[in-house]
Amino acid sequence: MHDLDALVKDALAVFEQAVDANALEQVKARYLGKSGLLTEQLKALGKLPAMERPVMGARINAAKVALETALEARREHIRERRLDAALREDALDVSLPGRGIGMGGLHPVSRTLERVEQIFHSLGFEVADGPEIETDFYNFTALNQPENHPARSMHDTFYLEGGHHLLRTHTSPIQVRYMQTHQPPLRIIAPGRVYRVDSDATHSPMFHQVEGLWIDERISFADLKGTVTEFFRLFFERGDLQVRFRPSFFPFTEPSAEIDMSFGDGWLEVGGCGMVHPQVLKNVNIDSQRCQGFAFGMGLDRLTMLRYGVNDLRLFFENDLRFLRQFR
Ligand code: DAH
Repeated sequence: MHDLDALVKDALAVFEQAVDANALEQVKARYLGKSGLLTEQLKALGKLPAMERPVMGARINAAKVALETALEARREHIRERRLDAALREDALDVSLPGRGIGMGGLHPVSRTLERVEQIFHSLGFEVADGPEIETDFYNFTALNQPENHPARSMHDTFYLEGGHHLLRTHTSPIQVRYMQTHQPPLRIIAPGRVYRVDSDATHSPMFHQVEGLWIDERISFADLKGTVTEFFRLFFERGDLQVRFRPSFFPFTEPSAEIDMSFGDGWLEVGGCGMVHPQVLKNVNIDSQRCQGFAFGMGLDRLTMLRYGVNDLRLFFENDLRFLRQFR
C-alpha cells in the first residue's frame, strides 16, 4: 500500500504545479478520470482478498477525498491569482496628476463691458441693443447728418454691396431706434461693435463703443457732467479723477463736448457728448419743447487699454492666448 501514499503525494505535487484552470483539469483526469490512477486502484479492489477490501476501500476513499480537497484549494488559488492579475492590469494610477479642465476666461473688453453695465445700472440706466448692419437713415440721417453733410466724412464707412446698407460707424443709431419705440423718461446705455475703415496701433476696423442717452423733462448739462464724471471715478476707482468737458462739434448734439479725463500731468480724450439736438428729437417724434436730455459715446477698447495699461489696441483682436490669459 506504499503505492497509494506515493500516488497521493505525487498528485498533490502535480496539482501544485498547475498554473491555470486548464492544466489543473488535465492533471485531475490523470488521477480521477475514468481510467485515472486512483480510479484504477478502485477497480483493482475486486481482485483483493475479501478481508482486505474494506480497509483498502476506506483508504482509497480517503485518498480520493484528499485529492478532491487539494484540487478545490488549487482551483480557488488559481481563480484568485487571475483576479489579482486582472486588477493589477486595469489598475488606475491614482498618484498621476489629473489632466485638468481647460477653464476659459472673459476677454478683457468683455470685462470692461460688464463693469460699464454694472456701474450704469447702479446709476439707473438700462441696456439697449441694435443691429450692426444699419441703414443710412439710422447711422446718419436721423442723427442730423443729411446726405452731403460734411460731417459724414468724419467717418470712413464700410458700405455693403448695393450701397443701401452699411456697418454702423458708431453706436449712436441705437439712440434713434430706442427713441422711436420708447417715450421719455428714458435712460439707457447701448454697447456694441462698430466699424470704420481705419487700422493702426490705436485704431482697428472693428472696435467697441458704449452709447449713453438720458431724456426727460429737465435733464441738463449739469446732469451730463455729474453722470459722466461719476462713471469715470467709479470705473477707474479713483475718487479724485478729474473730468473735463471741452467744446466740440457733433451733428446730433448741441452744445457738444469732448470728454477728457486727467491722466498723469495731462488730459486724455475718452469720449464725446452733448445735449441731444432738438432736430434729432423731432426726427423721432419726441416733443423737444417738453423734453430734453444728453447723450454720450465712449470707446470700450480705449477704457480697457487705460485700465490695464495695454498700449496696442490690436492685441485685443489677435486672440493670442499668451496675452489673453493674463486677464483670467
Ligand atoms: N458717435 C460719436 C462718435 O462715434 C460719439 C458720440 C459723441 C456719441 C457725442 C454721442 C454724443 O452720443 O453725444 O464719434
